[in-house]
Amino acid sequence: MSGIGNIPEDVDTDDCLLNYSYIFSPDILKDKVAFITGGGSGIGFRIAEILMRHGCQTVIASRSLERVQASAKKLVAGTGQRCLALSVDVRQPVTIVAAVEKALRKFGKIDILVNSAAGNFLCPASGLSFNAFKTVLEIDTIGTFNTSKILYQRWLKDHGGVIVNITATLSYRGQILQVHAGSAKAAIDAMTKHLAVEWGPDNIRINSLAPGPISGTEGFRKLGGLARAMADHYKLIPLQRAGTKTEIAHGVLYLVSPAASYVTGTSLVIDGGHWLTSANNMSAMQALLQKSAKL
Ligand code: HXC
Ligand code: NAP
Repeated sequence: MSGIGNIPEDVDTDDCLLNYSYIFSPDILKDKVAFITGGGSGIGFRIAEILMRHGCQTVIASRSLERVQASAKKLVAGTGQRCLALSVDVRQPVTIVAAVEKALRKFGKIDILVNSAAGNFLCPASGLSFNAFKTVLEIDTIGTFNTSKILYQRWLKDHGGVIVNITATLSYRGQILQVHAGSAKAAIDAMTKHLAVEWGPDNIRINSLAPGPISGTEGFRKLGGLARAMADHYKLIPLQRAGTKTEIAHGVLYLVSPAASYVTGTSLVIDGGHWLTSANNMSAMQALLQKSAKL
C-alpha cells in the first residue's frame, strides 16, 4: 500500500458499505444526533452511514419522502442506529420547521447539522433562464441559510452544536458551465464565515467541506464524471483519481468530532488536489454539454 494511506472501500449505489475499517474510535459520536439534508442519496447518504457507524442517530431529510424512507431502512439495517426519514424542501421554511419539531420529538435534541441538499446541471451562463439560476441559488444557498437559522433558533442557540456545509471548488477558478452552482456554493462559504463569527459565542462551530469529483454520485454523473475518467482527465489530478463518498464522510466526521474542537469558519477541501491543477477544458466541457442535454 502507498505511503499516503489506504483508500477506503465504497459502493456506487445508495447502499451501506459491505466492509468498513474504523479509523476513528467507533463511539466518538455516541448518543449524538445529526440532521442531514439530502441524506437520502449520494454523499449525504454516506455521511449519514459513517456518522451512524460512530454511534450517532440521524434525521435524513429531502423532498422525496419515498427516497429518504428507503434509505433510512438501509441505514438502520447497516449500522444498528436509529434514523428518522422526513420530507423537507429546504426552499420552504415551513417544511423545515415541521421536520425539526418532529426530529426533536423523536430524539430530544440535535447536535449536528449537515447541509448537503443541492441542485446542479451543466449549462452556459447565456443559456441559463433567470429561473434556472434562481432555482440553484434557492436550493443551495437559501436552503442552507433557512435550515441553519431554523435549527439555530429552535435548538442550537441554547445548546451549542456543529454545522457542516457541503460546498464545492467550482468558483475557485471560475469553472465553465457552472456559474449558478459556483456562485451558490461561494455564497455558502461566505455564510460559513459570517455565521461562525456570529454564533461562535453560542458554542456553535460552522465549517464548509468542499469535495472534488466524487464517484458514485448524481453530481459525478451530471457533470460528466465517467466521460472525463475515460478521457484520462484524472491524470491531471495530483492524486490521479476521483474521490469516494466515504472520504467525504470521513471529512465530515472529523469536523463534527472533538478532534476539530477549535476549528470554525473555515473550508476543508477534499479533492485530491483537483482544483489546483485541473484547467477549464472548454472544448471538452462543451462537448459534454452537447451530449448531456437536460439531464
Ligand atoms: C438548463 C435547466 C436544466 C438544465 C433544469 N433547468 N434543468 N436549465 N439546463 N439541465 C431549469 C428549468 O428549465 C427551470 O427553468 C429551472 O431550471 C428550474 O427547474 P425545475 O425542474 O422546475 O426545478 P426543480 O424541480 O426544483 O429541480 C431542481 C433542479 C433538479 C436543480 C433543476 O436538477 C434537481 O432537483 N436536482 C437535485 C439533484 C441534483 O442536482 N444533484 C446533483 C448535485 S451535484 P425555467 O426557466 O424553464 O422555468 C452538485 C455538484 C457540485 O451540486 C460540484 C461538482 C464538482
Ligand atoms: P445528490 O445525491 O443528488 O444529493 C443532493 C440531495 O439534495 C438529494 O438527496 C436531493 O433529494 C436533495 N435535494 C435537492 N433539492 C432539495 C430541496 N429543495 N430540498 C431538500 N432536499 C433537496 O448529489 P451528490 O452528488 O451526492 O451531492 C451531495 C452534495 O455534495 C451537494 O451539496 C453537492 O453540491 C456536493 N458536491 C458533490 C460533488 C460530486 O462530485 N458529487 C462535488 C462537489 C460538491 P430529493 O431529490 O429527494 O430532494
